[in-house]
Amino acid sequence: MDIFTKLSETTDYSMRELQGIVTAWVLSGAFDRGKVSSSDGHVEEQDYTKQSVYSLLYALYRSVGTVRSDTGVPYEFTFNTWGYDWPTSWGPAPTSADDPQRFGRNAYSGLYHFDAIRELVRTRNGRVHIVEMGCGTGAGADHVCTSVLPSCTYEAVDMQLAGVKTARRKFVPKHRGRLVATHADATKLPIDDGVADIVAVCETHVTDQGDHMTEEDRKFFRTAKRILKPGGFLTWGNAIPDKAWQPSFDFMESIGIEIVEVADVNEEGVRARHLDQARIQAYCDQALAKFPAFRIPVYGPRKKSEAELAMKNFARDPGTRLFEDMRTRADTYKVVLARKR
Ligand SMILES: C[S@@+](CC[C@H](N)C(=O)[O-])C[C@H]1O[C@@H](n2cnc3c(N)ncnc32)[C@H](O)[C@@H]1O
Repeated sequence: MDIFTKLSETTDYSMRELQGIVTAWVLSGAFDRGKVSSSDGHVEEQDYTKQSVYSLLYALYRSVGTVRSDTGVPYEFTFNTWGYDWPTSWGPAPTSADDPQRFGRNAYSGLYHFDAIRELVRTRNGRVHIVEMGCGTGAGADHVCTSVLPSCTYEAVDMQLAGVKTARRKFVPKHRGRLVATHADATKLPIDDGVADIVAVCETHVTDQGDHMTEEDRKFFRTAKRILKPGGFLTWGNAIPDKAWQPSFDFMESIGIEIVEVADVNEEGVRARHLDQARIQAYCDQALAKFPAFRIPVYGPRKKSEAELAMKNFARDPGTRLFEDMRTRADTYKVVLARKR
């Protein structure tokens, strides 16, 4: 069983199924050397698919359920977001220091920190319609509907059924019709043209291939443009290869999306990863303890340490490859405001 490529984005695996998958993966340790670098958790691009990895992560987050943060605060892991420490130049932080998922919340609040968005929201008395492309579990959508834009309507879209089901279970009911969670590939959205005042993109796994854009990347931005109203905003935050930003901007400009403002929050992103390190360790400890397969002699402990390193690398934890990429600015975290002409 190859957990990095074989799971499906259209399946929401139960805990029982996850136990079987993890056991098969542990036993496969008898035949393979593993895909996770033992020095820094790196997994080569061609060795995983986002369809498989996020399917596993969202099923894991749901199955593990409530855990305790490093400081003892109970929470369910739902923000699949690196996020950043709130930049001091943006004013008071919108989150408190004891919130285990504050950096993810900051990343979502930060999408709306731009004056131009504030002005649009003011003129519309807060009644703006947002479409989010790549919403994960909908944790950010919930945060925005609750604390950032309490009069907005919001359609949150992700290709992962497990994430969308978490959104429908945990967040959609409390917003009484204002929040809708849609299972779809953002490049083929079942959403009409020109409906969104704002398209939000938070750490969606696109434009991360370096200096070239993929066909998926191009379709992604064309879709964002299609569903935006004329003059509508695209607000986009992510840490991607530094050399991927300009080709993305050039492409967006070429299809009629103009770049309005770019904020670099990389330093704050690196700081967040340091501040989040103890929580990520606490999460790995509690999540991996739920899988008896990791206690199988010889292969169990080996695969457990592989799983822990991979989880930490996907979280850009200090010491991992993805953390180093951000620290050295090979990857940079930026928050971008763009506008459909
Ligand atoms: C790093 S996660 C971030 C999730 C969420 N925005 C958050 O911050 O918690 C990246 C997400 O992008 C989604 N994604 C990537 N490509 C997508 C696409 N073409 N259509 C829909 N979702 C996509 C993945 O399924 C995954 O849930």
